[in-house]
Amino acid sequence: AAVAGMLILLTLSAWRNHTYPSKTEMEPEYVFSYAENQPEDYPTTLGAKYFAELVEERTNGRIRILVQPVGVLGSENKVIKQMQYGGIDFARVSLAQLAEYIPSLNVLQMPYLYTDSDHMWRVLDGEIGDAFLESVSADDVIGLSWYDAGARNFYNSVQPITCLEDLKGMRIRVQESDLAVDMVEALGATAIPIAYGDVYASLERQVVDGAENNWPSYEAMRHYEVAKYYTVDEHSRVPEMQICSAYTWQKLSPEDREIILECARESALYEREVWTQREEQSRSIAIENGTKVVELSAEEKKRFQNAVYGVYEKYCGDDMGLIEEILKEGS
Ligand code: GCU
Repeated sequence: AAVAGMLILLTLSAWRNHTYPSKTEMEPEYVFSYAENQPEDYPTTLGAKYFAELVEERTNGRIRILVQPVGVLGSENKVIKQMQYGGIDFARVSLAQLAEYIPSLNVLQMPYLYTDSDHMWRVLDGEIGDAFLESVSADDVIGLSWYDAGARNFYNSVQPITCLEDLKGMRIRVQESDLAVDMVEALGATAIPIAYGDVYASLERQVVDGAENNWPSYEAMRHYEVAKYYTVDEHSRVPEMQICSAYTWQKLSPEDREIILECARESALYEREVWTQREEQSRSIAIENGTKVVELSAEEKKRFQNAVYGVYEKYCGDDMGLIEEILKEGS
């Protein structure tokens, strides 16, 4: 009788503790991977997490997206390759890398193309940006939304860069992109393509003298520890895109696709806000840690601009009409 009594008590307490699973605790129908090469607290990673939360919420837990930051799924180049075979479902990538597979995108990341951030957003939020997002959707990957990555600047461990001549002969790390190589070589330096995750070690071991990137990347990857001269020359604004593998896309219903697009766009607006704050913070953190900043003079900037003209001829020879249209959106 004692054993039977115990059993009844146990059953009763199990029943009392029982709770029904909330919708988001239900087994998901899909679990997707999302590649991000930036650290945990970086604006694009925060944007990705927000995107995943929105999707899970709006599909009542049917679609779960696991954000994998810090490049654990591989370099951007390898991630894009894998997405073409459906090995990774989602990612946020730099246009410099994506344009290696879809060269028409180069037009949007040409050096000195945008006068400032507002100019770039007028273009990307307007008809031109929409048309490019849609054109990507005709490829192995689907374009979902535009993310911000600010302006890129040169930094190095050797000397302050105040004029074009200072760059001459310097070994500068660039993204694994032909356009980036040609741009840096047009400015007189030697370009060395290296994956993002290996830049710190390359600077530290002096495999390269310098690199170029925006303030948040310079700070978040702690490049300021090994390259303290930072020159604000804003040679390019390279937008970033959230993308989905076409393999993954074709598994989804039209309704789910619509939800994903909507969440990607909302997450992009959030990322832009976080981005603006982080740019300021990163600059301050770097300076507190000893970064020496040079603001390139307007006159010198013009010389940089003239030096890269040949790159336009090579990459946009057939698209000069479009370049004109983009320039018209400038202030
Ligand atoms: C930026 C961008 C990264 C990219 C990196 C690079 O930080 O956000 O996606 O990999 O530039 O220089 O490689």
